Amino acid sequence: MRPRFDLPLDPADFLARFWQKAPLFMPACATGLAHPDPDTLAGLALEEGVESRLISGSGAGPWNSQHGPFSPDDFASMPRSNWTLLVQSVDHFLTEVSLLLDDFRFLPAWRLEDIMISYAARGGSVGPHFDRYDVFLIQARGQRHWQLGPMCDESTPLMPHDSLRLLQDMPVESEHLASPGDVLYLPPGIAHYGIAQDDDCVTWSVGFRAPSPLEVLERLVDAVAETDEQHGLFRDPQRQPPADPALLGRRDQQALVKQGLAAITEDQQRMALGGLLSEPRQPNGLDFEVDCGHIAAALPGAVLVRHGATRLILDDLGDAWLNGECWPLDEDSRPLVSLLASKRYYEAAELAAFDQPGQIDLVNEWVDSGFFVWLGSDDE
Ligand code: SIN
Ligand code: CO
Repeated sequence: MRPRFDLPLDPADFLARFWQKAPLFMPACATGLAHPDPDTLAGLALEEGVESRLISGSGAGPWNSQHGPFSPDDFASMPRSNWTLLVQSVDHFLTEVSLLLDDFRFLPAWRLEDIMISYAARGGSVGPHFDRYDVFLIQARGQRHWQLGPMCDESTPLMPHDSLRLLQDMPVESEHLASPGDVLYLPPGIAHYGIAQDDDCVTWSVGFRAPSPLEVLERLVDAVAETDEQHGLFRDPQRQPPADPALLGRRDQQALVKQGLAAITEDQQRMALGGLLSEPRQPNGLDFEVDCGHIAAALPGAVLVRHGATRLILDDLGDAWLNGECWPLDEDSRPLVSLLASKRYYEAAELAAFDQPGQIDLVNEWVDSGFFVWLGSDDE
């Protein structure tokens, strides 16, 4: 069985009442979360190019954080309790984990970031903190006790620490005991503190992509700079005599910024944003081989799967964006790529309609580059 999440309310209702606004605890609405087991997760944390952390501590501290990759000895020397291993972007490395993301189609695909998975010994926690992104915390194994606090921001006092941003004080406003299958949605900024209640506590975090204005502006400037277009210079034909010629006034500042932004064409916006938002969080994910046997067992009927490290989105002109690159599509390929972008695994009957040479070549090209993988040798 593939990992599944069933949003237990109408998506429009969820978006209107909770998305970016308020936490929501959703009991028993996720299944198929047995894999990866703690050993597989620890194995990933040994790999170069996989982002992982070990965090130990409890209560008022001391809290300690180390970055991976780790060695088997690091795990062997961990205490019996009060520590957590966090592995980032597991969906990129284990394609079977990425299949859960098909159940988040109540949000646009570009808004999804990745799935982090934590394994904790009893008492393990990352401490009281807030995240800057929306997150769905899905309990996969064992139990975790969650305490939720108020909305925080950059002015909220933190404990003094070199690398962890832990809250100095967290008034508890609500509590939940999460068992396997329970899901907690948190909007950005909500204080939370989750403590493992067992020695085998596994929690998946589906995190969302929210580019900063700085990232967006940098990409827009790059897109404008890349074209050879000659831009006009600043113009001020309505100029009145200044009261104070020494002053760079507010109206001039606004006019300069407005004329600067007006130089960005709609096509440059499309190119800048398509590139930025289709880049996978981890560039090396495609180096990790897909476990076809595991996926074929979880998805009887599927013949093709999208590699977990492949991001594919479509833009308003019908071009595809595949891991940061633009693929202009012709009339034939557009419906095929629409299908490929709409989900992460495909059955033979769905693909059968796409039998034109150009369509077949495109799938072959994307399979050869590792973006998609045929399941089982009969279908290769
Ligand atoms: C965890 O899985 O231990 C931490 C997730 C979080 O609090 O954001
Ligand atoms: Co968090």
